[in-house]
Formats: sequence, C-alpha cells, structure tokens
Amino acid sequence: MKDFSSITEKHYYRSNLLEEIISRLEKQGIDLSKVKRKDIAGVDEFHVRGAQVSKELAESIDLENAKLLDVGCGLGGPARMLADEYGCQVTGIDLSQEFIRTATNLSELVGFSNSTKFVCGDATKLPFEDGSFDVVWTQHVQMNIKDKEKFYSEINRVLTDKGIFLYYDIFKKGNQEVTYPMPWASDSAISFLSPPTEMEKTLIDLKFKNLQSVDQTDNGIFFFEKFIEQIDQLGPPKLGLNVLMGATTKTKIFNLLSGLKEGNLTLQSGVFVK
Ligand SMILES: C[S@@+](CC[C@H](N)C(=O)[O-])C[C@H]1O[C@@H](n2cnc3c(N)ncnc32)[C@H](O)[C@@H]1O
Repeated sequence: MKDFSSITEKHYYRSNLLEEIISRLEKQGIDLSKVKRKDIAGVDEFHVRGAQVSKELAESIDLENAKLLDVGCGLGGPARMLADEYGCQVTGIDLSQEFIRTATNLSELVGFSNSTKFVCGDATKLPFEDGSFDVVWTQHVQMNIKDKEKFYSEINRVLTDKGIFLYYDIFKKGNQEVTYPMPWASDSAISFLSPPTEMEKTLIDLKFKNLQSVDQTDNGIFFFEKFIEQIDQLGPPKLGLNVLMGATTKTKIFNLLSGLKEGNLTLQSGVFVK
C-alpha cells in the first residue's frame, strides 16, 4: 500500500504516471529520443487553458533570465516553457512525489534538466532561504490550501526585495455550495475556496502592490466549451488531462464549467510586486 503525506497527495496520485505518458507517446509513434515540449503539452499544464494562459501570464512582465519558483508545479510544463522561452532558471515545488518524479523525468526527456529542477515539499513550508527568487509563480494550487496567510507569507519570504508574484487561480464568487468532484478535490475535505478579495487583502497586508488583475472567467468558459465539443466529436485526446483526472474527468470538467457559468466560481490571473 502506498503511503501518502496527505489527502491532497492521494487525490492527485496516478500510479506509474510517467510510464503512462511514455506509453502514450510511443503509441503515437513518437521517437523517445526526439520528444519535444509540444508533444507533452496536452498533459503537462494542469489548469484551465493550459499553455496558452501560461504564455499570457509570462508576457505580463519582463521575465528574461529570472530565478523563478513555481509553487505547486505539477508536471512542470510551465517551468519548462519559462526556461525555454524566457531563459529562466526554474525551481518547481509540489506536494506530490509522483508529480515530482514525472516532472523531473519529463524535463530530462525534452532536454531541460539544466534549467529546471523539481523538489517535493509543502507550499506552506517552503524549503528555501529568504529572498531566494526574483519571481514566484503559482497556478491553480491555493484552492487546496487551508492556511492561505501562511501560503502567501511564504511566497513573500522567499521573494527578493522588489520580487514579483504571478498567479492564475480559481476563486469563489457566489454563495452557493460547490458541486464535487472538481479537478482539485473529490469532496470538500481538501477544497478551500475563497474570494479573490481575500487573497488581495492578504497580499496588501504583506506590503505587496497590485499591478494587474485579469478576469479570466469568460476565457475559461470558452475554452471548456470548445474542449467538450472536441471530445464529443473526436473522443478524448491521445495525451490529455484525462490522464491526470482519471475516470471522473468529464464530471470534474462539467462541475467546474457549471460553477464558472453560474457565477459561483471565477478565474483570475494577476501580478503583484513587493
Ligand atoms: C491543479 S494542479 C496544478 C499544477 C500546476 N500548477 C499546473 O498548473 O500545471 C494543483 C497542484 O498543486 C499541488 N499542491 C496542492 N497542495 C499543495 C501544497 N500544500 N504544497 C505543494 N503543492 C501542492 C498538487 O500536488 C498539484 O500538483
């Protein structure tokens, strides 16, 4: 029986995830000695709108050659994009041992071992010295974190003076109950949704300045509607987020899409500076 550090780690666990991804690449006839970032793009960004939104977030500031931390990095797709396209030195941290093993091996597979590194750890107890990073980046992680003050104060602590915090997240908007399963939680035990105003207040109290915030809700709805249409017409992608979300993928997507459409949830990205 596998030991998990928390219910959250268990929720995200997929046994032999790396081997499953490799086998799906082989089934598509992809030569394993020539795998490119684009070949794994369907699976290595675990958030609404995948690579497209990461690119938009990256373009919102000058990231060139930054020392960057991705908190809750998952399989490391954003980390590799930031290393490849912006020359960043990226460290990713995630609670899931299986995701960290997979992220490390995928970086090796596509040739980014020198510029990305992945460590297993908890976002609320970051194992890094004060002021270690120019930029901290996080996408779709804080919904799993109860102690949000600790989460944001750890981000503040590891940032340099004038360091930048980039986020893209799912927040609570309405007062209705959320229907589970969601991509980040099978039930409410590991789901801690809060309004964006709460995050903003915490960051302002930590003396951050709010440089930009973008409501991404309509973009997310549009993306999901297209995605569902494609699945209905062509079946599930050969290498997609269904590999990470398992048998309940469709229900999770439906519940999240309904929450966004009904105005109970909202997607927001933004930039804060210290
Ligand atoms: C929906 S996935 C997003 C992954 C990645 N940020 C991306 O967008 O591709 C959420 C991730 O947060 C991680 N996570 C949740 N709680 C965490 C915590 N307390 N510390 C570190 N990672 C955490 C999970 O293991 C999972 O990999």
